[in-house]
Amino acid sequence: MKIKMPTQKLKEKKAAEKPKEKKNKKKDGKNVLSEKSKFAIVEAYKSARTNIMFSLSATENKAFAVTSYAKGDGKSTVAANLAISFSKMGKKVILIDCDLRRPNLHNILKLENKAGFSDMVGRMVVFDDVVHRDVLPCLDVLTSGTIPPNPSELICSPEVTRFVERLNREYDYIIFDSPPIGVVADALLLKEHIAGYLLVTRERKTTHGDIERLLQNIKLTDSKPLGFIRVGVTHEGKRGRRGYYYYYYYQYY
Ligand SMILES: Nc1ncnc2c1ncn2[C@@H]1O[C@H](COP(=O)(O)OP(=O)(O)OP(=O)(O)O)[C@@H](O)[C@H]1O
Ligand SMILES: [Mg+2]
Repeated sequence: MKIKMPTQKLKEKKAAEKPKEKKNKKKDGKNVLSEKSKFAIVEAYKSARTNIMFSLSATENKAFAVTSYAKGDGKSTVAANLAISFSKMGKKVILIDCDLRRPNLHNILKLENKAGFSDMVGRMVVFDDVVHRDVLPCLDVLTSGTIPPNPSELICSPEVTRFVERLNREYDYIIFDSPPIGVVADALLLKEHIAGYLLVTRERKTTHGDIERLLQNIKLTDSKPLGFIRVGVTHEGKRGRRGYYYYYYYQYY
């Protein structure tokens, strides 16, 4: 005898089977640097790139992570754009999605994410089989992979240490996209592997309290902030009107 399942239960079953993806997928990727990007934005990224290069040269470490205090501040977009900007110099860059809870880099860069970082660290696949080579000249990308039940343990695993050692031999710059520090501590677990954190703040959203807590968390774990990227800065339009432009601004910490 067949038993009919109530609609609600069916919905719950489907949700449990498939992790929730972001709803605004269409918007993802629209802020990625391209030939059509505004001059001011391309230049702002170049200037951020120069400052980051100076910070990294002082530490002799070529890896850094992009993070922020809250969800949706623009971390993944900034990480992708910095990776693009660095690769335009002819330096070999790898961008890795370490947000193993709500990964989005694959949507932003329109890449497949059947397997990636988590599967590789879990030794289910090898790096060479899952890395997206030459997404742009000089730019390789490793997407997050399958959403694991234990993201923090995976990030701490010795496999990650071995992996980062390999990346250091093969790449000029290593950029990690990571989850918000105010929500989970995963980003801080990357500290062993990086020179420091590039912190994203969003105009009209990030509060002074958020920044204080962000810096406190970084200090408590003995990590280093490399600088801030302010996203969504408003500036005067040509005719003196206040425009609402998404703009980037790099500030030394
Ligand atoms: N400079 C920008 N201008 C306009 N919209 C932006 C900008 N940067 C990001 N966004 C938009 O904000 C949303 C969140 O961006 P993104 O995914 O980069 O943030 P995030 O901090 O990585 O989010 P999460 O915490 O969920 O990982 C996206 O819809 C993206 O298109
Ligand atoms: Mg993100």
